[in-house]
Amino acid sequence: MAKLSIQGGHPLFGQVRVSGRKNSAVAVIPAALLADGPTRLDNIPNIGDVAAYVAILRAMGARVEGADGGLLIEAERVDPRAVPYDRITQMRASYYLLGVLLARQGEAEVPLPGGCDIGPRPIDQHIKGLRALGAEVDISHGVVRARARSRRLLGARIYLDVTSVGATINLMLAACRAEGTTVIENAAKEPHVVDLATLLNAMGGHVVGAGTDAIRIHGTDRLHGVEHAIIADEIEAATWLLAAAASGGDVTVEGVIPRHLEPVAAKLREAGVAVEEDGDAVRAAARGRLRAVTVKTLPYPGFPTDAQQPMTACLASAEGNSVVTESIWDGRFKHVEELKRMGAHIRVEGRTAFIEGVPRLSGAPVQATDLRAGAALIVAALGADGTTDVGGCEHVDRGYEDIAGKLLALGGQVRREP
Ligand code: EPU
Repeated sequence: MAKLSIQGGHPLFGQVRVSGRKNSAVAVIPAALLADGPTRLDNIPNIGDVAAYVAILRAMGARVEGADGGLLIEAERVDPRAVPYDRITQMRASYYLLGVLLARQGEAEVPLPGGCDIGPRPIDQHIKGLRALGAEVDISHGVVRARARSRRLLGARIYLDVTSVGATINLMLAACRAEGTTVIENAAKEPHVVDLATLLNAMGGHVVGAGTDAIRIHGTDRLHGVEHAIIADEIEAATWLLAAAASGGDVTVEGVIPRHLEPVAAKLREAGVAVEEDGDAVRAAARGRLRAVTVKTLPYPGFPTDAQQPMTACLASAEGNSVVTESIWDGRFKHVEELKRMGAHIRVEGRTAFIEGVPRLSGAPVQATDLRAGAALIVAALGADGTTDVGGCEHVDRGYEDIAGKLLALGGQVRREP
């Protein structure tokens, strides 16, 4: 298990360039299979989830070449039944292959996805939408088998019972080559939904309204290869701003869309951190001990659930009592038990964490149980007294590019052990 050994008490200072967004990358990579001809994707982060997706596409017969943070993907022929089980279960976004393969070849056979253990992660809204588009779907023995009833999927009006990022993206992928018009209502508005729409439109698709709660997709028979650079990862950026705050430092994240960071920036300002934006950069400078705040996660543009765990870590040593409510996932407080090893006073009741800030956390051996739990423990370790050994960092590698290298460049005292 990979481990990061972090010596706390060294504030982070300097600039950090944010990598491409994980959750965009894992949507645009399968989307490239929809094009006739090669697609070049840029700003793709060098992370575990991308490596897993590349392996999946290659196992299915696609040509995938990587160079300079970019990927060239060409898929003249892919086998919709050759989706490899071991890779699929390493991540969540493998379910996008359902939408893509149905759109492309009218059939798909995809093992149920894996990903972070943050509570039940149903895919009923994906299935409901695909059925509305004219697919027969059967789930048995851990595999989803889907087949279009006619040659192409048929456009439909789909109302999502819960606002789901994954279902919105999957249905956009499926509908863009369907016959007729699809409308997704109560759609997710996350920036990577918009990023995917930009790619599909560049390929010759007709997606209107991405970024609002109603997305209209006029299907087209053919899409062509393009070049597309994905947007920056605002969760990585948020993690650096929170790390600056927790360590008492001053960090500027570069290459971001500041608007995407506003929910986190607003809470940091409330907590007493100076946060300023300048062009495509956002700077967070700590001004003494943080103050307690109340946080509730919500779909975009609310406070992102993916930044909740690092935020909780920050608030563990803020002055006063903070309340953090997780409204998206049932099991996203697994990092709290580890923070308690570091001296945090946190009580979890259902989906709410009550945090009584302590003056300082103390270093301890801790274990990352999922991606953002790992990020949270790193944030906590930076502001703690003494050394914290964060085990399970392979979870962190799934979503953060070169976390140890970036920490070192900002002045963190970090050692990575295999
Ligand atoms: N939900 C359903 N039925 C569905 C789909 C979702 O009930 O068919 C529920 C979920 O149980 C959850 C809520 O709807 O309570 C939102 O789930 P959503 O589908 O939006 O999540 P997701 O698409 O599986 C993506 C990100 C997550 C991020 C969530 C919410 C990817 C690959 N994953 O997951 O990212 O937390 O959206 O923003 O895009 C992470 O990066 O650490 C991460 C977990």
